[in-house]
Amino acid sequence: MVKDYVLNLQVVLANGEVIWTGANTLKNSTGYNLTQLMVGSEGTLGIVTQIVLKLIPAPVFNLVMLVPFNSAERACEAVSAVFRAGVVPSAMEFMERDAIDWVLQYRTDIAVNVAPDVKAHLLIEVDGNDMDVLFKDCERITEVMQAFDAGEILFAESAAEKDTLWKMRRSVAEAVKSNSVYKEEDTVVPRAELAKLLKGVKDIGAEYGFKSVCYGHAGDGNLHINIVKGNLTDDMWKNELPKAIRKLFELTVALGGTLSGEHGIGWVQKSYMDIAFGQTSLTLQKGIKQLFDPKGILNPGKMF
Ligand code: LAC
Ligand code: ZN
Repeated sequence: MVKDYVLNLQVVLANGEVIWTGANTLKNSTGYNLTQLMVGSEGTLGIVTQIVLKLIPAPVFNLVMLVPFNSAERACEAVSAVFRAGVVPSAMEFMERDAIDWVLQYRTDIAVNVAPDVKAHLLIEVDGNDMDVLFKDCERITEVMQAFDAGEILFAESAAEKDTLWKMRRSVAEAVKSNSVYKEEDTVVPRAELAKLLKGVKDIGAEYGFKSVCYGHAGDGNLHINIVKGNLTDDMWKNELPKAIRKLFELTVALGGTLSGEHGIGWVQKSYMDIAFGQTSLTLQKGIKQLFDPKGILNPGKMF
């Protein structure tokens, strides 16, 4: 996560004063951690004008594979098994079938063969400085994938093929947007609970009559749930759906997760904050907002 590389921030406060939040050091145990308080605060506490980041050497090699599954839940189950097998991929991305189909319709410059019975894919990347280690990692990942009934794995054989697979993944959000009005909920659970989350999303969808397309950063347990408007009536969309979304977030929290992994709260998720936090925590957080922004001029209404 980017936040793990942020060491120090220059921030303009609501009253116009400028502060630095940390130090340009790898270690820092001085006072409260205002750097991480600012990160993810969505412009509600101050405006970041400079960032000092920690750098790491860029890995020299990477390998990319696309793994098809006939069951989306099995794909999700395979994710934590990879980590349990001792491999930490640099990326593990989950895409449901519709996500890929819509990308292939939307981006005619991307061509990937998908067999008819495939329900989901994992896009997996490993990186590092030693090719032998990476090949061994891929062998181990392949064994795990087979144990979860994966289909025939596609290994990207050139930089261009890797690029195509990543383009496909990175185009999902736009492809969904181009297909229908939708609501995107950004959920995150411990990665071992991902399959339960996906099943719950589909069950709640069946109960309330909505279709969803799910994809996201499975290695982080971070699932983007795109609820598609399709043929739903405006009444259903406006009045019934929030009840279903509340159930989704209740499930997420019951699984040990929370409302947002990376998109933040904002208009879309703020009415569900009470699911993630009790009154004591909410009061503390509102107090922080009040202290930083007594006049409520910084991105007002986007968190509470
Ligand atoms: C993504 C953005 C939507 O994962 O977070 O594509
Ligand atoms: Zn994302």
